[in-house]
Amino acid sequence: MNKASPHAEQPHSGHSPSWASGQPAGSACICSNSRSSLHPVQYLVRWVIVATSSVRRNPGTGVGRNRVAADSGMASQRFVGSAAACLYAAPGRLRETSPDARRCETIRDVTARQAESAFLQACRREPVPYTPVWYMRQAGRSLPEYRKVRQGVSMLDSCTRPEVITEITMQPLRRYDVDAAILFSDIVVPLRAVGIDVDIEPGVGPVVDTPVRGPADLGRLRALEPGDVPYVTEAVQLLVAELNGRPLIGFAGGPFTLASYLVEGGPSKNHDRTKALMYGDPELWHALLGRLAEITISFLHIQVTAGASAVQLFDSWVGAVSPDDYRHAILPHTSRIFAALGSAGVPRIHFGVGTGELLGLMGEAGADVVGVDWRIPLDEAVRRVEPGKALQGNLDPAVLLAPWEVIEQRAREVLVRGRTAEGHVFNLGHGVLPETDPGVLARLTDLVHAESIRPKPGRP
Ligand code: CP3
Repeated sequence: MNKASPHAEQPHSGHSPSWASGQPAGSACICSNSRSSLHPVQYLVRWVIVATSSVRRNPGTGVGRNRVAADSGMASQRFVGSAAACLYAAPGRLRETSPDARRCETIRDVTARQAESAFLQACRREPVPYTPVWYMRQAGRSLPEYRKVRQGVSMLDSCTRPEVITEITMQPLRRYDVDAAILFSDIVVPLRAVGIDVDIEPGVGPVVDTPVRGPADLGRLRALEPGDVPYVTEAVQLLVAELNGRPLIGFAGGPFTLASYLVEGGPSKNHDRTKALMYGDPELWHALLGRLAEITISFLHIQVTAGASAVQLFDSWVGAVSPDDYRHAILPHTSRIFAALGSAGVPRIHFGVGTGELLGLMGEAGADVVGVDWRIPLDEAVRRVEPGKALQGNLDPAVLLAPWEVIEQRAREVLVRGRTAEGHVFNLGHGVLPETDPGVLARLTDLVHAESIRPKPGRP
């Protein structure tokens, strides 16, 4: 059995039990400064479930892992506000316990296991039983089973089929004991959904037939409605049911990255046309980014409403701009996106490649977690990002192509440096490379968990 499988651990990971916090049965509360908790009966039920969960063989590596076969499925309520202002009530029946309670906002039901997730705890900078891990682009071309599902189906068509989305999103979780799933979709899905003639060409990336170059093009970027992406809502709902409480990360493209595909008409090395528009026509630039921010807000809201428990904004190519230009030309739009998501009560992650000089500003924009690529060590990132933020990252994906001894040593270094952050989610510095051996990712996941396990309180 795999010693390092934290998901096989007992559900109670060293938190104060709910009966100690005075929380009534049938409820759990997630506040920025309070921990999830369980009633003794729920705790017992979950302990039995976990203790009897089946051991599945990992198809990629042959490494056995315990999986939670079922969850108590207990619905709970999520509140925003101070711990004192939290309401505790059975689902659907709110009971006010203080005048402050009116400030609390019920967001949506979460399962008790989500409330306890190490991933969400790290994002919120709470104590964790071990360092959580997931991988950007964990679903996709590095998996043979992905290539099989995708045979004969175009990338963007596969993003409109809820069963396909669900299957591909789950594929990495059958191989790796990662702490979160990320929805299978693409940053251009909402653009296509509002009528932009974008397609994803295999081996190339997003290509836009009619690029956005003048004010007249803005009209093509209409607002995104939930009815434009019913398949996203359905897929997220299917996934939340299947994930048994393991968090699902929703995502969207950041304003600069989306603008780049629209303006350039396809992938670009230096984003010259995009930056020329940013420098040369600020009015059109802000109008464009304003519309993209609207679409992004709506796309993220749709995912959170359907059940995603965190969101990541991929402004992958924003590292192409200077800090000054970022502050004036991009940050206002990114801030608006994160502010609009604030009331949703889910952690907001912000990531871009080559953004070492922008990390402070990316945090300032309102992210709870700042994603770091491999160019900046995490302890240096801690110095660049204001207090009150967790970090995510940052093993160079190319390291995974080196011998295991190198991977192991580099991963340990990331963990050690990550301990200097208020919260750390282990990840790569960018997406999984297509040529990565899935067995290596499975082994790395277990290493991260085993190396980072924290002693239970009260144990020597
Ligand atoms: O992380 C995941 O596994 C979830 C799925 C996901 C995809 N795209 C699927 C995809 C995510 C999170 C994205 C985000 C995305 N898409 C980004 C931001 C992340 C990053 O890499 O910086 C960007 C810039 C895009 C745009 C995009 N889509 C590019 C540049 C490409 C081509 C590169 C490539 O990997 O082929 C795509 C296509 C794409 N998106 C694929 C997948 C699985 C490959 C399509 C295929 O298999 O034919």
